[in-house]
Amino acid sequence: MKQSLRVAVIGCGAISGNHFAAIREAGQELVALCDILPSRTRGAIQKYSLGELPCFTDYIEMLDTVKPDAVHICTPHYLHAPMCIAAMERDIHVLCEKPLCISLEQLKELREAARRSRSQVGVCLQNRYEPNMRRLYEMSREGVSAACGYVTWKRDAAYYGSGTWRGTWDQEGGGVMINQALHTLDLMQWICGMPTRVSARTFTDHLAGVIEVEDTATARFEGEGNVFTFFATVAAGGDFPVSIQARLATGELMQVENYQFTCNYEPLPSASQGAVLGKSVWGMGHKWLIADFYDHIENGIPFPIDLEEGSKVVRMILAMYASNGALVDIPE
Ligand SMILES: NC(=O)c1ccc[n+]([C@@H]2O[C@H](COP(=O)([O-])OP(=O)(O)OC[C@H]3O[C@@H](n4cnc5c(N)ncnc54)[C@H](O)[C@@H]3O)[C@@H](O)[C@H]2O)c1
Repeated sequence: MKQSLRVAVIGCGAISGNHFAAIREAGQELVALCDILPSRTRGAIQKYSLGELPCFTDYIEMLDTVKPDAVHICTPHYLHAPMCIAAMERDIHVLCEKPLCISLEQLKELREAARRSRSQVGVCLQNRYEPNMRRLYEMSREGVSAACGYVTWKRDAAYYGSGTWRGTWDQEGGGVMINQALHTLDLMQWICGMPTRVSARTFTDHLAGVIEVEDTATARFEGEGNVFTFFATVAAGGDFPVSIQARLATGELMQVENYQFTCNYEPLPSASQGAVLGKSVWGMGHKWLIADFYDHIENGIPFPIDLEEGSKVVRMILAMYASNGALVDIPE
């Protein structure tokens, strides 16, 4: 019989429930929790019926005491890199929530730690597992001549008040781009290929006075033989479906809008979707990605959405922030 891996989770806030459910479904054993707020670890145990578990407020103490095989990082953005590095230094596999990191300095430190480590790093870019996205990815292997993506959502003062790290440059590392729109931008580069240059503008208009970071962004990316454009805002009056449109090299116009998938405006059959933990979210990505992460570890195969893969969308976003309208290179 297969031996379960011993898994710990750092950060027991909003997204942690998706991880607990997926760890269990992947047949792994949850062995410890960490959150700086004991009320969060206690609350998670109760809410998700996790049973008796050792709880910590210091993640280093947890890693050194429990010595898990793998750790999931579900904390504010600025902590992802130091927490990943601490796990890598101990050869503990790590699944990191997006974004992998928030600066090029952090990326450099992550790469150095990875060179010395035997552990695998996975980044939670779970929308790549959405059936419609996988189909679009397969269909786009022949090439994409142009594409565009839109994320048009509403995040208000109450949302930004839900965590002191939100809406700040030093802890969230950015606004709509590094948080809400990161998944869609990652899908764009996955489908179109990693671009080399970008011109972009970011704005803090509607949420000025509420957040330091951008609430709206536009960008034009130049890639290998294609151009793709991107618009994202959290200043909308409501949440609208994420939209990606791609003109394939073969001429077909593909469009994915959440569950809808069309080719030249004709609907294609859409894979059925479900709620995650009773919450109406787009798809079941965490469950699929986390199962796949553990399959790769158990089979000793490198997980494809690794540190370098997870760094791509971060490098694209950091270039957007640096652009201020100018055409700039996306950093290596
Ligand atoms: N993949 C997705 O679709 C998705 C969706 C939502 C959130 N996320 C990501 O998940 C991460 C967490 O987001 P959230 O919405 O759950 O935030 P949250 O604020 O609800 O939870 C973060 C938790 O981390 C804890 N924490 C802070 N500092 C800590 C430390 N030093 N040690 C241990 N715990 C600490 C906080 O107390 C809090 O309980 C973010 O990176 C976010 O972008 C990803």
